Amino acid sequence: MRVLVVGGAGYIGSHVVKELLSHGVEVRVYDNLSTGQTINLFENAEFIEGDILDIPTLEKAMQGVDGVVHLAAKKAVGESMMHPDMYALNNLNGTVNVLNAMVKNNVKYFVFSSTAAVYGMPDRSILDETTPLDPINFYGFSKKMIEEVLSWYDRLKDIKFVALRYFNAVGYDAEGDVKGMEKNPQNLLPIVMETIFSVRPQMTVFGSDYPTKDGTCVRDYIHVSDLASAHYLALEYLKKENQSQILNLGTGTGHSVKEMIDETERVTGKKVNYKMGDRRPGDPAALMAVSLKANELLGWKPVHSSLENIIQTTYQLYQKELGKN
Ligand code: UFG
Repeated sequence: MRVLVVGGAGYIGSHVVKELLSHGVEVRVYDNLSTGQTINLFENAEFIEGDILDIPTLEKAMQGVDGVVHLAAKKAVGESMMHPDMYALNNLNGTVNVLNAMVKNNVKYFVFSSTAAVYGMPDRSILDETTPLDPINFYGFSKKMIEEVLSWYDRLKDIKFVALRYFNAVGYDAEGDVKGMEKNPQNLLPIVMETIFSVRPQMTVFGSDYPTKDGTCVRDYIHVSDLASAHYLALEYLKKENQSQILNLGTGTGHSVKEMIDETERVTGKKVNYKMGDRRPGDPAALMAVSLKANELLGWKPVHSSLENIIQTTYQLYQKELGKN
């Protein structure tokens, strides 16, 4: 099978590329290197530098592939509220360009990187795929819209897709084959790591009065290598069953911000300099995934997502990159 990984030089994309290569898939990466990094490219995967808004280059890259994994997107929640135009253009138009290039080249299988942000602030903490969608930021809205576009392209253009709703993506390749740290990270664990290595003097825990076990927010942290394996299984599923699906990817277990910090201190033996602060607007108290559908349909199960492994693999990379300063 030959697969085009759009956004394959990014954080999740590079882990997906590694996983596909390990199964003997022929991989071609398409990435504009805006957040993706050449250091994340694998020698045995072809690389085409290009943007999803550049239709001729995209169409060329699509030639001769059997399937597409699409992870190229803008993903900063706060930024999406200030620059919806940028998110509309890159996430919505960009994905439509990818789909149209697929139609033109008769490519039938599409694996899409969606997000738990499509659920917004749900009235429950444990979410399956039937939980109503009500995104509260433009980023989540852009992904929800794309899911809808996908079901129309399935009906009208016979493109079969699996949309994977990631919960909180964390961790790094345990073998150290992905070497690029995310630039300007916005998420909890990279911020914890940057605090350990004094890139930031101090971090803030956003809210300590939530109705959770210790008052801090609870999230479902899923190791990026577990996310990666789902992409391979999704492609296999599409080839075999030729049916579209939308699937949650999480562990079903929640960890609080405080637990993440405490466990980081335990695993690394380093102090995290933090203070308790106000709630961040738009943060639900707790979010956890029911991923039974991914388990039943794909045979997917997280195996890398223990808290210890998540922190250990992240620390390993940060130690190598920042520990030398
Ligand atoms: N947090 C802090 N301090 C920080 C950063 C984060 O306390 O400096 C807290 C947040 O308040 C939240 C938790 O850590 O309770 C996790 O925050 P992240 O920003 O890492 O992740 P979110 O749960 O807000 O969102 C993430 C992705 C979204 C995705 C969503 C899906 O950033 O893109 O998961 O659940 F949509």
